[in-house]
Amino acid sequence: MNFTHDFTLVPEDELKLAEEKLSTEIVAMNNATLTAYESNYASINLSLDFKMRESVKSLALRMNDAEAIVVIGIGGSNLGTIAVHEAINGKFYNINHKPKVFFADTVDTDSMSSIISIITSYLQNGKRVILNVISKSGGTTETIANFEVLLAVLQKYRPDYKKDVVVTTDEDSAFWHVAKNEGFEVLGMPKKVGGRYSVFSAVGLFPLAILGVNIDELHKGAADMRNECLKSFDKNPAAISAASQYHHYTRGKNISDTFLFVSDFESIGKWYRQLMGESIGKEYDKSHQNRVLCGITPTVSVGSTDLHSMAQLYLGGPYDKFTTFVILKKDSGLIVPNMPVYDSLVPFIQNKSLPVLMNAIIAGVQTAFREQHRPYCTVILPNRSAATIGALLQWKMMEMIYLGALLGVDPFDQPNVEQYKIETKRIMKEQSSM
Ligand code: PA5
Repeated sequence: MNFTHDFTLVPEDELKLAEEKLSTEIVAMNNATLTAYESNYASINLSLDFKMRESVKSLALRMNDAEAIVVIGIGGSNLGTIAVHEAINGKFYNINHKPKVFFADTVDTDSMSSIISIITSYLQNGKRVILNVISKSGGTTETIANFEVLLAVLQKYRPDYKKDVVVTTDEDSAFWHVAKNEGFEVLGMPKKVGGRYSVFSAVGLFPLAILGVNIDELHKGAADMRNECLKSFDKNPAAISAASQYHHYTRGKNISDTFLFVSDFESIGKWYRQLMGESIGKEYDKSHQNRVLCGITPTVSVGSTDLHSMAQLYLGGPYDKFTTFVILKKDSGLIVPNMPVYDSLVPFIQNKSLPVLMNAIIAGVQTAFREQHRPYCTVILPNRSAATIGALLQWKMMEMIYLGALLGVDPFDQPNVEQYKIETKRIMKEQSSM
């Protein structure tokens, strides 16, 4: 494993109990390594799929003259991509890099109009714009509506537009067949891999490859971490962090805050929010017989920004949170210049580097958390390389599977998300028949 972490101590007897509960799950996961994509644990095998990675790379290579890519998808179909892209390339990537990237998720007229106006100017100048529409089900209202809107723009300016559309969806789904019939490029995703576990499939890999992320390294980091997280309990970082989350949940900490001390990591927090929210937020237990109303509410904080808005609550409010600090190891960086005129405003900062200041803030915050008996753990990343980010995401996905097992819920389904989607479709049908 290429990064370090520590966990707030979980009592020995509880660790033993967690170990007993998870032993079957660890065996089941190990068995799943032999079956590629057939079991519910399919996602753990994505990082070993050389063939899929090569076909994604060769398609991305054919599109490397693009001026921009629009990723059309929502939830599990774009959160992982945004998280990895921003963590590695930075939030300001679009200012001086090509291809530009735009994410079309919700049906917001204003943001869609902005995207349309930008890509129209590219298309009018003869530049190439790729539409990558991603929908596992192929039937998500927002995604298909936005796709049709953007496709109409592409069709207007590019006679050979079909070469510029990439559809990523479940192999053999209805969308898959429509896309094939239309002559679009089609990338499949394994049926058993759920949206929130799909970042290492073509869902994340294709747009990330277009954006210059080294997807071999991303997979390598994930694969190395996968091996760690298949080990027996005491050597297994995902099982242990799941046990830690579980312990604090049973002590009334029903909020899990991911506190990231790198602005570009905010979207990792948002990705984890979906992973945790949908995987363990459940009305019924795994047998679907008992109503359990289970869930830990995932929140995201960015350090040190949110200390100036949330620290009062975190340190003085209810004892209902468990915090995971995510820190990037950085020893050198920008230096605060020596300007004596400002010395009286904030003393002792001149000639110091911003990482030194950041480390002092982190140390201060953690001391305050300890003094206030607020439980936390710390994850320290050695760098923001593709391998490190791949490892982090793989760890968290396997942690969630183990946490589901500890809580007795199914970490792979999302019946209540489907519920609202069905309702939305019913309302639109009603409106059409009026
Ligand atoms: O995890 C989920 O199932 C959801 O968040 C989906 O990812 C999201 O609704 C998008 O679904 P789809 O990829 O089918 O368009």
